[in-house]
Amino acid sequence: MLVDTHTHLYLDRFSNDRPDVIRRAVEAGVERFYLPNVDRRTIEPMLAMERDYPGRCFPMMGLHPCSVQAGFQEELALVREWLERRPFCAIGEIGLDFYWDLTFVEQQEEAFRTQVAWALEFDLPIVIHSRDSIDRNLQLLEELAAPGLRGIFHCFTGTLEQARRAIDLGFLLGIGGVLTFKNGGIDQVVPELPLEALVLETDAPYLAPVPYRGKRNESAYVRIVAEKLADLKGLSLEEVATATTANAEKLFGHTTFAGA
Ligand code: NI
Repeated sequence: MLVDTHTHLYLDRFSNDRPDVIRRAVEAGVERFYLPNVDRRTIEPMLAMERDYPGRCFPMMGLHPCSVQAGFQEELALVREWLERRPFCAIGEIGLDFYWDLTFVEQQEEAFRTQVAWALEFDLPIVIHSRDSIDRNLQLLEELAAPGLRGIFHCFTGTLEQARRAIDLGFLLGIGGVLTFKNGGIDQVVPELPLEALVLETDAPYLAPVPYRGKRNESAYVRIVAEKLADLKGLSLEEVATATTANAEKLFGHTTFAGA
């Protein structure tokens, strides 16, 4: 069994064929979907997926760094309200994005610190977005490190040195479609990393693996990433699936709150 630890299946890009997308994933052996939140607009569609696919879709709660703008305190207050209201499998996705816009970098850091503190308070893992900002994210985590702080560097595309720092902090690395890109670089790093530190993801609808690069990504393609990882590590697909799924389940816990 495979799981997709990071997929935005609730977005409009899937509104015409969501049941088919889920069916294709399950047929490919991808049986669980962990849904990172973005901001106030995505909460309802995300929770609707949990209702429609109980035991398969597990929502997270958090504020995405690209949604940290003027008025972000209100967005954070809403995240806090939801965390107090019901269980979630993680706080995510949170972190820093230095790629799209540097206007709100300070606010991004403030939102990140706040949500890391909540993760410790609620004893939840965090799912980190670190586009063009891995070093700063690592620095902040080294500063905020505390017993119980754990999570995933989602869409990890860093160097071996950065990977080791993340693993030393107790974090897992989320490996997705970039592993199949010719110029992705992460295919050079992954063979050096212990399987115990890796989980699989799509980040659907973004970052589809080869041969679908540039097209809409979907959770069934986790299998393509798993096959590539097996190939790079000289393991069977079965071994990769068993290990990465166990890593994800250990992190997210046995999420028995479906339909809550
Ligand atoms: Ni994402």
